[in-house]
Amino acid sequence: MANWKQGEPLVVAVAGATGAVGAEMLKTLEMRDFPADKIVPLASSRSAGKIITFKGREIEVQELTERSFEGVHLALFSAGGGTSEKFAPFAVKSGCTVVDNSSQWRMDERCPLVIPEVNPDDLYKHRGIIANPNCSTIQMLVALKPLHDAAKIKRVVVSTYQAVSGTGQKAIVELESQVRQLFNLQEPEVKVYPYQIAFNCLPQIDVFLENGYTKEEMKMVNETHKMLDPNIRVTATTVRVPVFYGHSESINIETERKLTANQARAILAQAPGVQVYDNPAEKMYPMPIDAAGEDEVFVGRIREDESIENGLNFWCVADNIRKGAALNAVQIAELLLEKDLVRVPDPNAFI
Ligand code: A2P
Repeated sequence: MANWKQGEPLVVAVAGATGAVGAEMLKTLEMRDFPADKIVPLASSRSAGKIITFKGREIEVQELTERSFEGVHLALFSAGGGTSEKFAPFAVKSGCTVVDNSSQWRMDERCPLVIPEVNPDDLYKHRGIIANPNCSTIQMLVALKPLHDAAKIKRVVVSTYQAVSGTGQKAIVELESQVRQLFNLQEPEVKVYPYQIAFNCLPQIDVFLENGYTKEEMKMVNETHKMLDPNIRVTATTVRVPVFYGHSESINIETERKLTANQARAILAQAPGVQVYDNPAEKMYPMPIDAAGEDEVFVGRIREDESIENGLNFWCVADNIRKGAALNAVQIAELLLEKDLVRVPDPNAFI
């Protein structure tokens, strides 16, 4: 059992350390000076032996196995749903608390789904695995939470413009290679997405479900219900665009009480994790190139929806790899430490 006690050296593993999000997790732990005394980078057998650097030290990547978590107190997972499904229960069995970035455990009743700015107290319910929400849901809810508190949101209509980095390292490479191929008058090679992504938009993220929505769209609906309010009606259209880093969202909300655009701007300006970047007269609005590499959720184009009584439109942009994934996971880990929740109440809860 590796249950951690305050004051003891803290051992932290990152599963998927060689991936787009895993690498950002390591960077974020380093940048925020997370009090880890030892870092254990884990990936597939393909990467075993590779070297990563953490705080100036070189550390060898190890193959992720069922026994990787012996002596590890806290693990951040971003190695895909199947890997989380298989290995997170073994981590918990070893007494290791897991923050999982995949969608595997998000809707599991045993696992809190947490955005620190939205529902931090749900962490108290954890039984070993805490789920990190979907990237598009995170940035949307960081912006919606203060508006919901102020005026009670009844309905949300959202369309996303999502960067390829959300799919992982191989998609970043695919966009880059397709641009190069097209400029060289070659046929673009299509491997990751169903169609060419360079100079194109794909109105499909993840697989289609029976109701005609994609799984990504339903994640936004279901995760909003789990974290913010089950009574909010949500409908989403998620689109992959040829952007490397930074998801954008066009969000329309209908509220119970009236909020003017200025009131919404003032509320969002005070909200944790949000930066209002909104001045049409100066052509000031957030774009992915501004958000990439930043921690905040940027909001602009705030205006009243003139087609209904109590409605607002706005545009919301965030770095999907940071706040949408790695940063949110590290913030959860920080809260777990602060609240003394790096512990597993029942090692067999997920086996
Ligand atoms: P590897 O680099 O060895 O394949 P991305 O989301 O950028 O594609 O990264 C996925 C991450 O998950 C990588 O670090 C990858 O390791 C890791 N990974 C994928 N499959 C497995 C697996 N079966 N076991 C352990 N790690 C895995």
